[in-house]
Amino acid sequence: MKSELLLTFRKLTSQDLVSCVSADWENETSPKYFWHWSFAEIQKEVIKNNAEGFFLGARLVGLWVPLAHADATEILYFWVHPKFRQQGLALKALNQIQVQLNKPLWLEVHSQNHRALQLYKKFGFVCDSIRKAYYSDGHDAWVMSFGNFKG
Ligand SMILES: CC(C)(COP(=O)(O)OP(=O)(O)OC[C@H]1O[C@@H](n2cnc3c(N)ncnc32)[C@H](O)[C@@H]1OP(=O)(O)O)[C@@H](O)C(=O)NCCC(=O)NCCS
Repeated sequence: MKSELLLTFRKLTSQDLVSCVSADWENETSPKYFWHWSFAEIQKEVIKNNAEGFFLGARLVGLWVPLAHADATEILYFWVHPKFRQQGLALKALNQIQVQLNKPLWLEVHSQNHRALQLYKKFGFVCDSIRKAYYSDGHDAWVMSFGNFKG
């Protein structure tokens, strides 16, 4: 299903996390994917009011954690709910984010997170540099940007 509907965005609340995210979040952390944030980490961002959810109607289908810099927005975390994956929603969300912000985007991706690497490449991100052994499991980080970012 490639939905034609627009996503709506709003700040995530603790209630969203409890009602829509928590069970699936824990499933995904066991076995742990190294790049997947812990529930405590995402909760911390929600409490700081830094996390935004994206919704199809009333249903939370994903979230992201942005960090605004003067000349660009860094994507600290980006997640689509497992039940809604491979339906084009990540691409749709990135597209809406980019149009709304109208600023370059950049992020770091774990070199073994192949789904995310494919997603960002497909969207049009380019790899600007590789941070060798950046993560504590010894893997590299790809630093990727979209939209003429001079980092
Ligand atoms: C990575 C993630 C956000 C993709 O979300 P999604 O909604 O399934 O992605 P989309 O359906 O929009 O897919 C867009 C493209 O991404 C790539 N992609 C998505 N899922 C993939 C998979 N399982 N395997 C390989 N490529 C994949 C493909 O290039 C796909 O295009 P295609 O459908 O034409 O092949 C999602 O898998 C996720 O939340 N993963 C866990 C959290 C995470 O790793 N976040 C990134 C942190 S930097």
